[in-house]
Amino acid sequence: MSVRRSVLIGTGSALPKRVVTNHELAQMVDTSDEWIVERSGIRARHVAGEGETTASLAIDAAKRACEAAGVEGSSIGLIVLATATPDQTFPASATIVQDALGANGGIAFDVAAVCSGFLYGLGVADSMLRAGMASRALVIGAETFSRILDWEDRATCVLFGDGAGAIVLEAREVAEDGPGVLSTKLHADGAHNELLYVDGGPSSTGTVGHVRMKGREVFRHAVVNLAEVLGEVLVEQSLAPADIDWVVPHQANMRILDATARKLGLPSEKIVVTVDRHANTSAASVPLALDTAVRDGRIKPGDLVVLEAMGGGFTWGASLIRV
Ligand code: UT7
Repeated sequence: MSVRRSVLIGTGSALPKRVVTNHELAQMVDTSDEWIVERSGIRARHVAGEGETTASLAIDAAKRACEAAGVEGSSIGLIVLATATPDQTFPASATIVQDALGANGGIAFDVAAVCSGFLYGLGVADSMLRAGMASRALVIGAETFSRILDWEDRATCVLFGDGAGAIVLEAREVAEDGPGVLSTKLHADGAHNELLYVDGGPSSTGTVGHVRMKGREVFRHAVVNLAEVLGEVLVEQSLAPADIDWVVPHQANMRILDATARKLGLPSEKIVVTVDRHANTSAASVPLALDTAVRDGRIKPGDLVVLEAMGGGFTWGASLIRV
């Protein structure tokens, strides 16, 4: 029997030109390369310069994903862009990407679920493709967190970076054991706003605001929530952690990746890690890491891959994909 699934047919990513090392940050705030590496695993991050915006990075990533998929940008009927740092309050940055691809007339909108945004975007796009609202979709995670960081707050400014990642999904009739998005689980718990938020916004202060985070508490929730939601997508498909070929996690902290892997009994060789060179790029981090592992040949057709993320809201989620 065949089923209609969203099949991953291409990935792409884009990073700003400028790389900022921990040593450079140590000249700006009271921190050290040693502290940042030991506590987070981060060594460097890309920071957007003049002319580099969330939409421009998203466009580059989207074009690379379309090229990898062997499809024209103009053939994309649905664009879901996950971001907490849009170019403008409105219109949605997804519409800027749509125009750049010449895909005008299809569906395009942004989703806001911060670091889990890509998982939320994937869940929405997958549902819309399976419902027949479009046949080919781009799901993009793109951020320029450098523009909402307080560069005098050492507890946050050393942790984030800028970038974009994109995937092309196509609705196809496939065999039950064939490729595609198998299961996505999403959650939110709005009781934790004060642990991770931006202290501004168009309707409250009329300013853009800066990222504020109580890192230690976020860390604690992240390990518990991520292990739980990973378990949920596996249970739904009657699979065990040992069946997974690759985990592509949100890249917030090396210690969170290690702790989650340990909780599930997964060997560290199965975890894709880019936090050392990209830092936490919020909604961009999962598709950036996915594209990295596809392009370097680690993730291959037929592999069972699980994506997961947790972020402000709190929001969290996981998705199981047969590549
Ligand atoms: O993407 C959304 C999800 N976000 C996350 O998942 C982030 C989760 N949290 C984390 O990754 C970690 O909690 C951090 C990397 C943010 C911090 O690591 P920690 O081991 O939890 O450190 P801490 O916040 O408990 O701070 C320890 C000490 C504090 O000093 P005292 O109070 O012990 O004297 C901080 O003031 O480290 C100090 N500190 C720093 N020292 C040097 C905080 N930031 C820095 C810094 N450089 N950049």
